Amino acid sequence: LAELPDKDSVLVVPERVAKGQGTFLLTASTEAVLLSGDDSLACVTGALDQVLEPVFGKGLRVRHADVPLDGALNISCDAAMPADGYRLEITPGRAEIVAGSAAGAFYAVQTLRQLIPAAAYGAANVRAVELPVVTIEDKPCLGYRGMMLDVCRHFFTVDEVKEALDIMALHKLNVFHWHLTDDQGWRIEIKKYPKLTEVGSVRSRTLIGRDPGGEYDETCRYDETPHGGFYTQDEIREVVAYAAERYITVIPEIEMPGHSLAALTAYPWLGCTNGDESYEIAGWICGPGNVLCPGKESTFEFLENVLDEVVALFPSKLIHIGGDECQHTRWEACPDCQARIAAEGLRDETQLQSYLTHRIDSYLASKGRQLIGWDEIMEGGLSPGAVIMSWRGTQGGIAAAREHHHVVMTPGQYLYFDKRGTDSPDEPVSLNLSLPLEKIYGYDPAEGLSEEEQQYLLGVQANLWTEFVATGKRVEYQLLPRIYALSEIAWSPVARKSWEEFSRQRLPAYLARLDAEGAAYQVPQPHGIREETLEGGCFRFTIRPPFPGCRVYYTLNGATPYDFDREVPGELEVIVPRGEQRVLKCVAVTPAGRRSMVVTTRMGNPGE
Ligand code: ACM
Ligand code: ZN
Repeated sequence: LAELPDKDSVLVVPERVAKGQGTFLLTASTEAVLLSGDDSLACVTGALDQVLEPVFGKGLRVRHADVPLDGALNISCDAAMPADGYRLEITPGRAEIVAGSAAGAFYAVQTLRQLIPAAAYGAANVRAVELPVVTIEDKPCLGYRGMMLDVCRHFFTVDEVKEALDIMALHKLNVFHWHLTDDQGWRIEIKKYPKLTEVGSVRSRTLIGRDPGGEYDETCRYDETPHGGFYTQDEIREVVAYAAERYITVIPEIEMPGHSLAALTAYPWLGCTNGDESYEIAGWICGPGNVLCPGKESTFEFLENVLDEVVALFPSKLIHIGGDECQHTRWEACPDCQARIAAEGLRDETQLQSYLTHRIDSYLASKGRQLIGWDEIMEGGLSPGAVIMSWRGTQGGIAAAREHHHVVMTPGQYLYFDKRGTDSPDEPVSLNLSLPLEKIYGYDPAEGLSEEEQQYLLGVQANLWTEFVATGKRVEYQLLPRIYALSEIAWSPVARKSWEEFSRQRLPAYLARLDAEGAAYQVPQPHGIREETLEGGCFRFTIRPPFPGCRVYYTLNGATPYDFDREVPGELEVIVPRGEQRVLKCVAVTPAGRRSMVVTTRMGNPGE
């Protein structure tokens, strides 16, 4: 089998790597030996099967033993190691995984997978693969390593959700935030309120074309085709179990009190207008009528009944209640809401939302659970047990940590994976904001937090909203290779990260592996490495290929570049005279022949 030039170059850089001489031959008849007496390692053998079945056509035979055996892949736990940490030691005689927990052993197996040459996947009749002699020790720097998938703007089947979980597992992420209810659809079966899915899971139409920009845009065009889907409680349990086998916790999100148009369409009495208002599930962003009425006890009864079924389905300690982007105009005109404000001595509608959050917080606490919500839930007073998910930048998370609340950082400017990867007009229709890989990679979740405050940082999460993402394959495209950068943020301390090394050494090997697997992914854009204004007002711009082996063709006349256009050499320097405007367009072509997006960069120094 062809070997990668440097096999361990495809890993998230571990804490310690010691390379040795020689190889260990892993074959279809190598045994997996479990050294712990308990059953906690059972899932790890499932993970081994997932890694090795595609190579050998079958998994390894598993046996138990008291001491490591030569010629075998030995797996054991050592409680003295950090829980998610592991050591993977390959010697010519045997392979050994020692981990702080079964989860740690699972991550070691994911690392092992990356030591297997990419060519082994997809090749027929592989009998043996050579693993390099190496010792790798690693542990994640953050305990919460999350990804959110919005299944409301578009519905994804159980199989598509499982594929997303597989991608998470490969990248050693451990929290799946499942955004299950919103204005565009209610996706979880609730037995007590069947209309939530009978009525609330189907909308009549969906926006087509690009992000129109404004909230409500009369020029929006719709497909006039119903879109829907929901998960039965059995399917929810199936996904939760599938995730658990990959050491992933599933946090459900039930949005309240805003983003509730699907619930209101099913049960209009949940709103401020006593059922008089007629609601319709949104095919795009909707107006302020998407809020539940916190003035009525019946609303709380509904929410508690829904949460009862939710907590029975999800073992996660954290339960997400949304709380974002709730407009309060309906409450201003609602006698019940105003009566509640008066009776509870609340200052205004913002405190009314806080009142709802506090009540739900107490309710969840009474069930042994903990509330997590978007950073808006801080407004009007933080609820005692609440965990904050900071999405409107990092300020909310920083403020919450200062008040000794736990936080998950998921700032929009770094970790919203629904954004475009490049400036290209050739990108699939996306949210009209761009987020290059380099920006994601450079994010430090501890930024702005003192050492003392960092103890409240649970971790990081990327969010994939799906207004413009309609298929499972497109989910893959939005996630890859971005989730690799996320994984590195979550696993590696800042001191160990290097964009230069990541993008020029490990990323190409990683993308080659995606090529071998036939995965959909965003080819990173060419780097702009220097932009500076020179003396005399000229402007200099330097660009280079995203990684070695990638060819970049460019034009300066606004035309889309083809392979016959001029090629960017190692580096291309463009000088724009003072007062002039130029457009540089580049197209990157990877060694596998994948074309990257065209990047359009407007340059120019207006002079003066
Ligand atoms: C959000 O992006 N509205 C949480
Ligand atoms: Zn009301």
